[in-house]
Amino acid sequence: MGKDVIIACDYASAQQTFSFLDLFTEEKPFVKIGMELFYAEGPAIVREIKRRGHKIFLDLKMHDIPNTVKKSMAVLSNLDVDICNLHASGTIPMMEAALKGLTRQDGTRPLLIAVTQLTSTDQQHMEDDLWIHAPIADVVMHYAENAKKAGLDGVVCSPLEAQKVHDCCGKDFLTVTPGVRFAEGELGDQKRVMTPAQAKEIGSDYIVVGRPITAAEDPVAAYRRCVKEFVD
Ligand code: C5P
Repeated sequence: MGKDVIIACDYASAQQTFSFLDLFTEEKPFVKIGMELFYAEGPAIVREIKRRGHKIFLDLKMHDIPNTVKKSMAVLSNLDVDICNLHASGTIPMMEAALKGLTRQDGTRPLLIAVTQLTSTDQQHMEDDLWIHAPIADVVMHYAENAKKAGLDGVVCSPLEAQKVHDCCGKDFLTVTPGVRFAEGELGDQKRVMTPAQAKEIGSDYIVVGRPITAAEDPVAAYRRCVKEFVD
């Protein structure tokens, strides 16, 4: 899979999601389904979006004991999603078990990427709540290296970290980056952002874009602008 724009479909119902996706009559964007939509609508929403011809990143961020993660990943693999994810903090044995669970009998499997430290976690909370005392940038890189050691395909990270992740883990190790905004756009609750063109420049493999597309006056035009800046 090459560079692509993934739309974060952060909706609470199938109805809202399909009225949004129905706007796209000429293209089939790559779609991210997160916990909100998945918990609301279950696997049926994944099957229906897949049936409509979209690629799917199922963003469920698993974190549990290896055996549970392995069996749950096998379920997602049967759903035929394209990318799924987990927390690298679940440790290397958990990530290895996840890969085993994802791999189908014929050897194929969805891509598996890891969340390192959530961008909502800052140095202070990492130290006070989690008792991790290394600099957060080093922790992110260490978790990315663990994901690589476990055989995963990449990480979700800030576009500002993408270059360093590629330096540490190789250029084929995928960086999937949210926190993308148009140059003149609203930041919303995102703090450290890049434009699609800047994300391309620093080597992100996929950008995850939500509100700049979903809340745009013309979502299809906003999506096309992302593709033009990031992919073309
Ligand atoms: O609307 P916006 O473009 O900010 O949406 C970004 C999407 O990426 C949301 O679904 C959000 O949950 C997700 N995300 C993020 N930052 C992370 C991980 C995921 O913004 N570190």
